[in-house]
Amino acid sequence: MNIKVNLELTAKETAEAARQGNIMVVIDVLRCTSSMINALANGARRIIPVKTVREAYRLKSKYPEYLLAGERGGTKPEGFDFGNSPLEFTREKIQGKTLIFTTTSGTVALIRCRNAKSVLIASFLNVSSVASRALKIASREKRGISIIPSGRKGEFSLEDFLCGGAIVEKLTELNVILSDSAFASLLSFRQAKNSLLNQIMKGEHAQNLVKLGFRDDVKFCCQIDLFDITPSLKNGAITL
Ligand code: MLT
Repeated sequence: MNIKVNLELTAKETAEAARQGNIMVVIDVLRCTSSMINALANGARRIIPVKTVREAYRLKSKYPEYLLAGERGGTKPEGFDFGNSPLEFTREKIQGKTLIFTTTSGTVALIRCRNAKSVLIASFLNVSSVASRALKIASREKRGISIIPSGRKGEFSLEDFLCGGAIVEKLTELNVILSDSAFASLLSFRQAKNSLLNQIMKGEHAQNLVKLGFRDDVKFCCQIDLFDITPSLKNGAITL
């Protein structure tokens, strides 16, 4: 069987892909999914994505032992335990903890997909793991694969598109049929991969993070296959 792979460029396409039962692979390289993957790799028990800061406070008042994480405008909202810097999520601070997470774009994309049957959390940090998990489910259950770049405030973002291409490159190790958008991401990734950090640094989001003092976050998020884990979103929570 040939597995169909598409890279969904709009929210409308994402909704349709979820309705069709595709495996949803959600990417927010800078920095939401990279932070989540690092937190889970460092022992966080689970992550609950929520849409608004207000919702995050509300959940925290119900479960005071949960920790608040995320950003607005790139920085930590008042009263939060963590911002959205992957480097903050060290084992000492998060081992065994539940995080409530809200960001400008990443958690919005995740919440948009939450009713899909399979939602996998991806970034450069786990390209090979996520691709092999997606292929396994797709082959077993005869489903398509949809790659969802979160983008930035609803707009296209360079780093998520390139990460989509990195995942597509791994997927092509089996017989897959690529849509034009998936193929374009693959071509772009192949062009950029030997100087990935340099290319991503030229993007708008990276430039903005550098201005805010988060250059090290961009560097961290551009590492390919640092972890062999694939978190997934089920029943409102992300776990390993
Ligand atoms: C987002 O979800 O919009 C991003 O993770 C923003 C950021 O870099 O903090």
